[in-house]
Amino acid sequence: MAGPGRQWWRDAVIYQVYPRSWADSDGDGIGDLPGITERLPHLAGLGVDAVWLSPFYTSPQRDGGYDVADYRDVDPLFGDLAAFDALVARAHGLGLRVIVDIVPNHSSDAHPWFRAALASPPGSPERARYLFRDGSDEGRLPPNNWTSMFGGPAWTRVTEPDGTPGQWYLHMFDTSQPDFDWTNPEVRDELEDVLRFWLDRGVDGFRIDVAHGLVKFEDLPDTDLTLDANVDATALAPMWDQPGVHEIYRSWRRLADSYAVEGEDADRILCAEAWVLPAQALAQYVRADELHQSFNFEYLMTPWLPDEQRASITRSLAQAGAVGAPQTWVLSNHDVVRHATRLGYPQHPGLQRIAGIGADDPQPDPVLGLRRARAATAVMLALPGSAYLFQGEELGLPEATRLPDESRQDPTWERSGHTQRGRDGCRVPMPWEGDAPSYGFGPGERSWLPQPAEFGALAVDRQRDDPGSTLSLYRALLAVRRTHRLGLGHLTWLDGHPEDVLAFEVTSEDASVTVLANLGTDPLTLPDSADVLLTSAFPGTAGHVGPDETVWLRS
Ligand code: GLC
Repeated sequence: MAGPGRQWWRDAVIYQVYPRSWADSDGDGIGDLPGITERLPHLAGLGVDAVWLSPFYTSPQRDGGYDVADYRDVDPLFGDLAAFDALVARAHGLGLRVIVDIVPNHSSDAHPWFRAALASPPGSPERARYLFRDGSDEGRLPPNNWTSMFGGPAWTRVTEPDGTPGQWYLHMFDTSQPDFDWTNPEVRDELEDVLRFWLDRGVDGFRIDVAHGLVKFEDLPDTDLTLDANVDATALAPMWDQPGVHEIYRSWRRLADSYAVEGEDADRILCAEAWVLPAQALAQYVRADELHQSFNFEYLMTPWLPDEQRASITRSLAQAGAVGAPQTWVLSNHDVVRHATRLGYPQHPGLQRIAGIGADDPQPDPVLGLRRARAATAVMLALPGSAYLFQGEELGLPEATRLPDESRQDPTWERSGHTQRGRDGCRVPMPWEGDAPSYGFGPGERSWLPQPAEFGALAVDRQRDDPGSTLSLYRALLAVRRTHRLGLGHLTWLDGHPEDVLAFEVTSEDASVTVLANLGTDPLTLPDSADVLLTSAFPGTAGHVGPDETVWLRS
């Protein structure tokens, strides 16, 4: 696969592991690094190119580890640095690259820097690493009207070392996640040093958390925007997508490039988590001297409707192409409702994201959801570019929509005054063995979020040898995609098909594959000559493409 000049990330399929929930080696009910290492053969067998690990760093775990107290160590919950090194060695031995998460927008309030800031007076260099400001109305009210992504104000007032009510600090997320001040060179140097620390340990790249948030508009003005989750992040918001972020990423790119080895397919990559619209603004993050990739959330949010899908795919390819970057594709991650559930609303496949779904909310149709999820994945994995998968989607796992409220851990639930269920429903631990306690997640019964009963039938061991299973479908899609290098191909829309059929051809150096996705209600009959490579349908539906099914044909 490797070879001089090849840039592995251009067509890579990258599998996201949420370490708390993938595999638990010690039975404490929380996944860990040795558990991941043991289960890596699952990923090699699936046929992905890389694994991305959500944070496993030292953390009070107020936001699932996206609240980092020590950027250079492993939280004892997950293991230690030796366990991390063993994971990387095993992954590389299996031909899998390893991407880790970097959280540069904010630290945990347990980080030594924030502790020092609290212990130091206003105006001190310790405070200058974060965004401390005096309040308005003689200090009584927050400095501006910004709201936290998890609900409530984005500011918290501190008690000064002398016991008096004092300044306020900015936290775009939980109160335990103070935002850094990126105008401070000390912050820039520190985070670059963290990148070097992990690059020196052999990681192949980083997923950059809240990449669009690091720089805030000068003087932090009030905003008219209501923050409906991340979706509203646009160029108009003073806390998102400010021009200053690009200079940071140019510097990061130089750093990553300094680790590349001439003549080897060994690029270290950077991928932005940036909820930025429109696609044209997002494409600025992946200009040639900036980041390699950026998640295509616009695609994730596109309803399962033919015109919208066509427009989103066309726009995505054009915008990334305009700056010479590969497009990325993603349908699920640890922050959104799983696509097997999101797509299960008959009328209008919903856009629910971090709001989550609770037992009292309208429930999706699970059969429809899974059928559409398989069809949507079969579209996604044919598209030119790089694709991201979220753990468990290869099993067709649904969102856990009936979690008992007392089990919820996402800070969104508390901070929204129990109006938004949050993201726990997509983070429920993986089922590996249908008959084992905790479905094989760990050696015992414990699992930090309760697993729904339907996870048993979806466990890896129940699907492995079933040719009609979702796991088998993913393996087949990934195998054909890799064999024919579809990710490096070129997409052409095909005429002559009904309006509600997405019909396109992907041509690579090795082959041409025709993709037909039926988003309508009538079956589409295939000609006798059709050479079907694979179908998202459950077995027994040959000869036509049913509603909410996708086929790949040899062109
Ligand atoms: C990103 C992460 C999310 C986290 C937030 C704050 O959006 O994906 O899980 O809560 O940043 O770090």
